[in-house]
Amino acid sequence: MDIAVIGATGVVGRECLALLDGGILPDVGRVLPVASAGSAGRDLGAEQGLDLKIEPVVALEDVDPAGVDIAIFSAGAPISTRLAPVFAAAGALVVDNSSAFRMEDDVPLVVPQVNPQTLDSRPARGIVANPNCSTIQLVRALHPLRALGEIDRVIVSSYQSASGGGLRGLEELADTTRALLDGADPAAARPGKFGQPLAFNLIPEIGLRDADGHSHEERKLRREPRKIMGMPELRVAATAVRVAVVNGHSEAVHVSFTAPVSPDDALAALRATPGLRVYGNDPADGYPMPQPVCASPTERRLVHVGRVRADEDDPCALWLWVVADNLTVGAALNALEIVSLAAGKSWL
Ligand SMILES: NC(=O)c1ccc[n+]([C@@H]2O[C@H](COP(=O)([O-])OP(=O)(O)OC[C@H]3O[C@@H](n4cnc5c(N)ncnc54)[C@H](OP(=O)(O)O)[C@@H]3O)[C@@H](O)[C@H]2O)c1
Repeated sequence: MDIAVIGATGVVGRECLALLDGGILPDVGRVLPVASAGSAGRDLGAEQGLDLKIEPVVALEDVDPAGVDIAIFSAGAPISTRLAPVFAAAGALVVDNSSAFRMEDDVPLVVPQVNPQTLDSRPARGIVANPNCSTIQLVRALHPLRALGEIDRVIVSSYQSASGGGLRGLEELADTTRALLDGADPAAARPGKFGQPLAFNLIPEIGLRDADGHSHEERKLRREPRKIMGMPELRVAATAVRVAVVNGHSEAVHVSFTAPVSPDDALAALRATPGLRVYGNDPADGYPMPQPVCASPTERRLVHVGRVRADEDDPCALWLWVVADNLTVGAALNALEIVSLAAGKSWL
């Protein structure tokens, strides 16, 4: 299978290449990295120390979609909007990491552990949408809890890392931190990717805010779980906050059911779910945090759930704390698991 990675030099694109290098997919043929003209000719295999045979980076303007079986788009919504249909028309299955197609009715929005049935037949437009990073870890923690009863409402506060803002986000965190430690003005260190200096700070706004006060990230956290979980009426309220963490998103999640539930039943359901690491309430069990999770090659492929506890004022509700690596679980890994799921179908 020949794979093009569009946006291969970005934080998500590089993670895709690293996962391909690790053998996540069998039968990988040609790997074609695509980026802007300024990156043309770069040898990403050598830069990243990969064994995988990768062609030199091709500029987006020069790329030929002919012969590409899988196109993974990670270069932002405008590029996906323009070129994903071109690759799909040329015969590729497109897996799109951007927000361009997520809410379109004829484009499946897929988390393989939650709604694999959406890929039982070939997507009508040849495009599969990868959800937002904070959505993926949320629905992977919520899905097993459906065994406890009907979920009625979700209230989520997300604490999202700098790498969620791409390479520029990481650079900005480093530059503003350095400036602050050097006694300089952090706002002068870098034009604001995040609107405000992120060093030693948190910013309660991710993406633009609507006139009614909700940010785009909060809108995604409401709409996307409804579509993925097939629960269009699910009540979801979100607050999305950018925090001075390099990598790894965390979420405080309050889940209400229509009948009483117990934390022990929730822990049992979560523990029975592959792909989750669950932390009990014994103090020795600890709790998940971005740093150790994202520093470990194995842990960063899992969704981590801890602090599972009752809402003392509501027997029908639980609290959870959910942590995952936004670049792997929240982007590249989910995209390649979509490819893996599709590869097992006769239509690919
Ligand atoms: N970061 C996350 O946690 C995350 C999670 C889920 C989804 N996503 C989505 O994934 C996509 C990529 O995000 P990222 O964080 O990886 O961003 P990033 O680090 O900023 O990387 C952007 C990539 O797009 C390429 N690119 C930008 N403008 C281009 C142009 N005009 N022509 C060709 N290539 C161009 C860049 O190439 P050059 O290096 O040559 O400029 C780079 O490879 C976005 O749609 C984002 O919303 C990100």
